[in-house]
Amino acid sequence: MAVTVEPLTPHFGARLTGFNIRDGLSDEDFAAIDLAANTYGLVVMPDQPLDDDTQVSFSERLGPLEETLVGAVGAGSKIVRVTNILADGTLKDPDSQLALFTRANFMWHTDSSFKAHPAKFSMLSARELPTNGGGDTEFASTAVAFDMLPAETRTRLEGLIAIHSIAWSREKFQKGASSEEQRKRLPPVPQALLRTNPVTGRKSLHIASHVMGIDGMEDLEGRALHDDLLAMATHPSKVYCHQWSPHDAIIWDNRAIVHRATPYDETGDRRLMIRTTISDFGPTVVDGAIVAAA
Ligand code: OGA
Ligand code: MN
Repeated sequence: MAVTVEPLTPHFGARLTGFNIRDGLSDEDFAAIDLAANTYGLVVMPDQPLDDDTQVSFSERLGPLEETLVGAVGAGSKIVRVTNILADGTLKDPDSQLALFTRANFMWHTDSSFKAHPAKFSMLSARELPTNGGGDTEFASTAVAFDMLPAETRTRLEGLIAIHSIAWSREKFQKGASSEEQRKRLPPVPQALLRTNPVTGRKSLHIASHVMGIDGMEDLEGRALHDDLLAMATHPSKVYCHQWSPHDAIIWDNRAIVHRATPYDETGDRRLMIRTTISDFGPTVVDGAIVAAA
């Protein structure tokens, strides 16, 4: 078998077929998937029935996995259950912290940029999908956005450091959406605003709703700069909306893609997605300076 790569949109994303993760992948097929994720930023892999162990072992080939953060379902393991279903099979109380936490995914974001050691890729697989519609996931490319900026803006962004905080984004989404423990264990962190993919050499904007400011700028000025970039990157004309089918699996590059969840009937329907998160090389900022590999 060989991996077939078809572009998903004119500007980013690819649809990969011709292989079955569950049967095991040759080094060649695996390398083609890894390269496509780096090149296209987003890869949709239809017809990949996965269980947690298979997803974890495939993801581990892409790089070391993150452990799930405190407060999320699956904390301490290598998978995140992105769901409205509790471990006992009943549905989350829509007013609970757990439900709020998942709903904060409605904001444009990139995974784990609020950790000093951010994520490289995320992989999300559909296990249970709402029967009454909704629950799509939207994606936009910050590599495409970077390419479209005027040259002088690109130069102005060079060397900037953004401050990311999960408490900031959660509280912005809804007051009380972050817990005391999260605020303590996940304080604001610096992140290079521009990232360079080490495989392709292509630059992208590392932006997200987690950004509370830009180092060296007034809070409002930094936020305005960031919010303008995010709005430009996620203009509706640049968004790919994925309507999930059973057994779809998607990988995205958190350095070059922002994504967000969309609503569904959380109290009358069921949705279960399993995420594995592949770590990046390490912190992008050390002692106040952007590290070369960023
Ligand atoms: C995620 C995420 C969106 C969705 O798992 O990181 O943002 O549609 N998911 O579930
Ligand atoms: Mn996410």
